[in-house]
Amino acid sequence: MRLTVLGTGYLGATHAACMAELGHEVLGVDVDAAKLAKLQAGEVPFYEPGLEEIVQRNLSAGRLRFTSSYQEAADFADVHFLAVGTPQKRGEYAADLTHVDSVIDSLAPLISKPTVIFGKSTVPVGTAERLGALVRERSPARVHVEVAWNPEFLREGYAVRDTLMPDRIVIGVGSATSDRVERAAREVYASQLAEDCPFMVTDLATAELVKVSANAFLATKISFINAIAEVCEAAGADVRLLAEAIGYDDRIGKKFLKAGIGFGGGCLPKDIRAFMARAGELGADEALTFLREVDNINVRRRTKTVEIVRQMCGSILGTRVAVLGAAFKPDSDDVRDSPALNIAGQLQLQGAAVAVYDPKAIENSKRIFPTLDYQASIDDACRNADVVLVLTEWEEFTTVDPGHLMDVVRTPRIIDGRNCLDQQRWMDVGWTYRGLGISIGERA
Ligand code: UDX
Repeated sequence: MRLTVLGTGYLGATHAACMAELGHEVLGVDVDAAKLAKLQAGEVPFYEPGLEEIVQRNLSAGRLRFTSSYQEAADFADVHFLAVGTPQKRGEYAADLTHVDSVIDSLAPLISKPTVIFGKSTVPVGTAERLGALVRERSPARVHVEVAWNPEFLREGYAVRDTLMPDRIVIGVGSATSDRVERAAREVYASQLAEDCPFMVTDLATAELVKVSANAFLATKISFINAIAEVCEAAGADVRLLAEAIGYDDRIGKKFLKAGIGFGGGCLPKDIRAFMARAGELGADEALTFLREVDNINVRRRTKTVEIVRQMCGSILGTRVAVLGAAFKPDSDDVRDSPALNIAGQLQLQGAAVAVYDPKAIENSKRIFPTLDYQASIDDACRNADVVLVLTEWEEFTTVDPGHLMDVVRTPRIIDGRNCLDQQRWMDVGWTYRGLGISIGERA
């Protein structure tokens, strides 16, 4: 089957490569010539385990190609996937739909045959219907162009696995031509459906809401455990044991109950804000006011971490801080809304000398936060430090030898911002350990 993927950012590049891997002939389309040149040369412009091999394999097999020409895209296929970014608007909560709209503006006038456009981007509910009307107004094929919604649930670091073996496939369709759209979706995802992947066909609004609701739920789960972590700190309890104990209940489950410095990245923070903004526009703002608290709890964990540094070191001004981790999570070079970088920035603003090391995210960090002191290794970042903060749970940090690091730092104080270290191992060799939501075992 021939298809295009419009937008070759994180989501689009992954989707294009994985669809080719399933055997389809795929054309990736973007306006960014530099990005296209890299992809066409088999280079993925961001870090995602396993993706580069898939891109290279499918380029060589001739199933994957990239172009900047919308005319070529319109001629090449009658099934298109829209996968451009929907970032948070500057100074507002709402999503910025400029990229989505501009793809439709570019493509619609060139469509002259019956076509299905599957939107994959995370959008405010109502967008698909609006785009459908727009495309039918602008396209020579008019009523024969259908906009459907096929939300994407991939996680960074597991993007290939999540795309090739999704938990579920959801297709939102407008009422008019739902059979045609469903047939197209079943053909695209034939191999996953053969593996019994759950397949749901819904109306457009439900499909759009499924995505933001899933992300809102995940964010709520994290902020729930982080709120409990605050209580644990006040009461002298241990949130790690508490999370394990409540997680044995199947209805609660163990996943996404890791307390720490909270969530970041290009999805959860902006999606809950855009969801609140859209609910407000629809007159349902009261329904989602709890998400404001979810956001507040999340941001509070960052300030709390800064406070722990102050408590442990007596003052922040002049303190030498080593920050291990800049990416918003491990196995990613993404620093969008990264809690780690935010904490590093707050500490620097308050007068600390902050040295940062991350295995993959230094280049991206330098672009958005050029004033921090970036180092090339754990040892370089920790040299003569008064306190070490582990803020992203990279394996390189969870397996580091605390005995060796004792000789590198000035004072052995460790703050485990992800509760990912073996506390006993660090304390046994003489470190003063602090986790989040853990008030036992302090020696400060
Ligand atoms: C998320 C959703 O999981 C995915 O389904 C959706 O498609 C996009 O948004 P992603 O942003 O890649 O994916 O990251 P995720 O693994 O969900 O982690 C988000 C943030 O939450 C990270 O900063 C992570 O460190 C944090 N987190 C996660 C916690 O603090 N505690 C947890 O228990 C889990």
